[in-house]
Amino acid sequence: MALLELSGVSAAYGAIEVVHDVSLSVEPGEVVALLGSNGGGKSTLMNVISGLHPPTEGTIHFDGNDVTKTDAPERVASGICAIPEGRGIFPNLTVRENLRLATYAGVKTADVEAIAFDRFPRLAERKSQLAGTLSGGEQQMLALARAFVVSPKLLILDELSMGLAPLIVEDLYGRVAALASEGMALLVVEQFARTILPLANRAAIMAHGVITHVGDPATIEAELSSSYLGG
Ligand SMILES: Nc1ncnc2c1ncn2[C@@H]1O[C@H](COP(=O)(O)OP(=O)(O)OP(=O)(O)O)[C@@H](O)[C@H]1O
Ligand SMILES: [Mg+2]
Repeated sequence: MALLELSGVSAAYGAIEVVHDVSLSVEPGEVVALLGSNGGGKSTLMNVISGLHPPTEGTIHFDGNDVTKTDAPERVASGICAIPEGRGIFPNLTVRENLRLATYAGVKTADVEAIAFDRFPRLAERKSQLAGTLSGGEQQMLALARAFVVSPKLLILDELSMGLAPLIVEDLYGRVAALASEGMALLVVEQFARTILPLANRAAIMAHGVITHVGDPATIEAELSSSYLGG
């Protein structure tokens, strides 16, 4: 059975439906890339999976259980960690305080810091700094560090690269690849197909609220360059 299984999922803002009848699965340890143009419904779908936005139709199964009606904290407890678009850190809290919030998952503060600072020495140097004053790349490191600490079964990343220089994006995705090689499943929304497709086992294209293609990364890249990128 798949780790994550979406079946006929729709979602709306008020009367306007923006995700239509989406079915998608992620296998244990699999890296799935979700690509597509702006406003296609990708972030909404990610929020439906993490329990931040309710679906209007359909079911979500995770790790063998129907989690459709569970809330976001329950989904975290079941092993879903999401780094939402815009980083999902608390700008008015320090690096340490942000990390401490990862302890609700049952990891001790000392262990949280040990894990995070070992992976990201830069964060150790800045542990008392307000997260909102970190550079963009450092903020994403902090967001990723919180995911490392709770070691979820599924990590959802939404536009990790947003606003960052190419070298920083490369570095962050190197760390993401390390998570994948340790067996964590990943669902990654990314506007830069060439950054994520080499890491992906499978990819999907979403447009106008519908998943139009799912396939191996090479097939999806060819599909993107022929249609979505216009040649
Ligand atoms: N809070 C909201 N209230 C009303 N409409 C919203 C809200 N958030 C998103 N939408 C609309 O829902 C549609 C899907 O948006 P969504 O953010 O899911 O797309 P996306 O694929 O993540 O786009 P992008 O690639 O630009 O991040 C868009 O038309 C957007 O304007
Ligand atoms: Mg988005």
